[in-house]
Amino acid sequence: MQNSVFFKSVINSDSILDSIGLLGQYLETLIGCQHICLLLPHDNGRNKLIPYSFKINQTDLKLLQQMAIDTDLFSDMSSGMHLCITMSSAKPAIKLLSMTTFQSLYTFHLNRSVYGAILLCFRSPVQLTDEQLHICQMVTMQMEQLIEKIYFRKQVLKQQSYENLVNTLRMKDGFTLNHCYNVAFYASLLGAKVGVDAEQLEQLKISALLHDIGKIAIPDSILLKPDRLTDEEFSVIKQHPAIGYELLKDLPDVQKILPVVRWHHERIDGSGYPDGLSGDDIPLLVRIVSLADAFDAMTSTRVYRHSLPVFEVRRQLEINVGKQFDGLLVQAFLQMLDDHMIMDRLVWDE
Ligand SMILES: [Fe+2]
Repeated sequence: MQNSVFFKSVINSDSILDSIGLLGQYLETLIGCQHICLLLPHDNGRNKLIPYSFKINQTDLKLLQQMAIDTDLFSDMSSGMHLCITMSSAKPAIKLLSMTTFQSLYTFHLNRSVYGAILLCFRSPVQLTDEQLHICQMVTMQMEQLIEKIYFRKQVLKQQSYENLVNTLRMKDGFTLNHCYNVAFYASLLGAKVGVDAEQLEQLKISALLHDIGKIAIPDSILLKPDRLTDEEFSVIKQHPAIGYELLKDLPDVQKILPVVRWHHERIDGSGYPDGLSGDDIPLLVRIVSLADAFDAMTSTRVYRHSLPVFEVRRQLEINVGKQFDGLLVQAFLQMLDDHMIMDRLVWDE
C-alpha cells in the first residue's frame, strides 16, 4: 500500500477498527509487522482498556492488555521502546511477552489529548532500523489524529440541543455531515491556536458543525450529483448559507451560530456570498470556519476529483491571502499543520 493511500484513508476514516486494519496492511508491507494492537483507556480509567487489534488471537490479546495495565500503558517506557524475550531483564512485561506467541514487541505512545498505546508485535526477535522507527512514529501520530477526531465527534454530539439538527443533516447526506465534522475539528484547533476563549470555542465548534445546515433544503439531484455542477446548479447550491440562516433564525439557542451559517462563504476581498461582506466586517469565528471549510474541501476526495496534494493545498491557502482568507489566520493554520499534524511532512507520491 502506498503512503498516500494509507494516510488519506486514515484521515478520512470514521472507524478506529477499520484504521487498524489499514495500519496492519500498511506496516506489513513496509516493515514486515503483521500483528498490531491499539489499546485505549476505558472511560472509567486505565485499569480497563479498550483493545483494537489486527491479526492477534484472543489469548495473546488478553496477555498484551495485562501487560499494558501492569505498566500503566507503558508509561515508564519511552515511545518506540523495544521489548524482546531474549532480553535478560526480569521485567514482568517480558515475562508476560514470553507467554504470548510473540517474541518481540515495540510500543508507541499516544499522548496528546488522547492517551493510549500502539503495540507492534513480531513472532521472531527483530530490530527495527531508525528509518522504520520513524515510519512507526509517523503512523502513531496519524492514528492519534484520527482518534481525536472520533472522540471530538462523540463529545459534540453529547450536546443534545443540536442533536436533532445534526441528525437531519445525517439523513440528508452523510458526506456533508462528515465534512461538517471535519470542519468543526479543524476550526476548533485553529480557534485554540489563535487564542479564542473557551466560551467562544464552544460556539465555534457548534457553528462549524452546523455551517452547511442549509444544504438540507438543496435538492438531492444537485447535492448528490456525482459530476461537476453546471452554472445553474451551482447557483442553487450557493443559496445554502441564506437558507440555513432562514431555517435557524427564529429558533431559540442558536442565535450565536447564525453569523457562521450565513457568512461562511464570504471572502476577505468582498467577492463572496450572500452579502458581499469584506475584511473585518466578517467576524473572526466566521473567518476561522471559512478557512477550515476550504481546507477540508481541498483535502477531501470528491467523486469527480481527487484531493489536492498537501503542498498544493498550502500554496492555495497562501495565494488566496487577502482574497479569500485572512492572512493572520492562514499563517496560524500553516503553523498548526507544521506543529500539530503530519500531513504536510509527508511526500505524497502522486
Ligand atoms: Fe457551505
